[in-house]
Amino acid sequence: MFALAHLSDPHLAGWSVDRPSALANKRVTGWLSWRLNRHRIHLPQVLDLMLADMAEQPIDHIAVTGDLVNISLPQEFEGAARWLRNLGTADMVTVIPGNHDAYVRVRGDEGIARWRDYMTDMAWERADGAPPADPFPFVRKIGPLALIGLSSAVPTPPFFASGTLGSSQLSVLRDILAQLGAEGVFRVVLIHHPPLYGKGHRRKALTDAKEFSEVVRAAGAELVLHGHMHMASLGHIDKIPVIGVPSASALRWHHKDAAAYNIYRIGQANGAWRLGVEVRGLTNSEDRFVPSGSYELTIPALRH
Ligand SMILES: [Fe+2]
Ligand SMILES: [Fe+2]
Repeated sequence: MFALAHLSDPHLAGWSVDRPSALANKRVTGWLSWRLNRHRIHLPQVLDLMLADMAEQPIDHIAVTGDLVNISLPQEFEGAARWLRNLGTADMVTVIPGNHDAYVRVRGDEGIARWRDYMTDMAWERADGAPPADPFPFVRKIGPLALIGLSSAVPTPPFFASGTLGSSQLSVLRDILAQLGAEGVFRVVLIHHPPLYGKGHRRKALTDAKEFSEVVRAAGAELVLHGHMHMASLGHIDKIPVIGVPSASALRWHHKDAAAYNIYRIGQANGAWRLGVEVRGLTNSEDRFVPSGSYELTIPALRH
């Protein structure tokens, strides 16, 4: 059994605005929202408790599905790089960006490029042998798994938190899924925005969710993991499970869930993939993480 941990949306605290001019753009709305509310919801001590709990579980790899930072200040990316190094080495941890990691346009070397080591191909070469033109999608083969990292993170107008993959990323994704499908690995697609999100939430939605679903349906995948909603969820694209986790640093707030992470235990039995999902969540007393749910799914192997 391979054990993959999944956490999302840590929204790391511990940053401040030292230059008012840094707020002369969309950042000002994010800064206000942090000052008014979010600094009381996303707590470093909750995240520390999660990491302490995770360290006690037998885990082979960790996937982080975006929103590491809040308003995309260069110092936040630096802090997140330190946090990642503390979480694990680049061969132990895979990261994709979320909308808060592209809150405004940031020069490449001051933004998510600081996390580059955690977002690159590993043990995998494209069928045509060509080096990738874009960082996304990237593919990391680990044990029986292939993690396919996407970026739906694009700068948006104030009050929008939507995401877009774009047609070129989707077309590369289709080729990658087909190639990996032929190799018979367990394909895990990582995307920040939930690809099932309804039309009623246009401000937060993945604009090309329909196109993404079509690609995944046609080329195949075994599991899709996302964040963004700060809520636990399980949905499907055909028979492919689509799973979301709450924010890794959050206290329960209105309809949003308290912090939790999932451990997926993946193996094969009787010609099918078996996926055991263990949910580990923050207790009501907010002092530790405990098992708070589990379910098991069977996923047809060698769909293509
Ligand atoms: Fe988030
Ligand atoms: Fe998000």
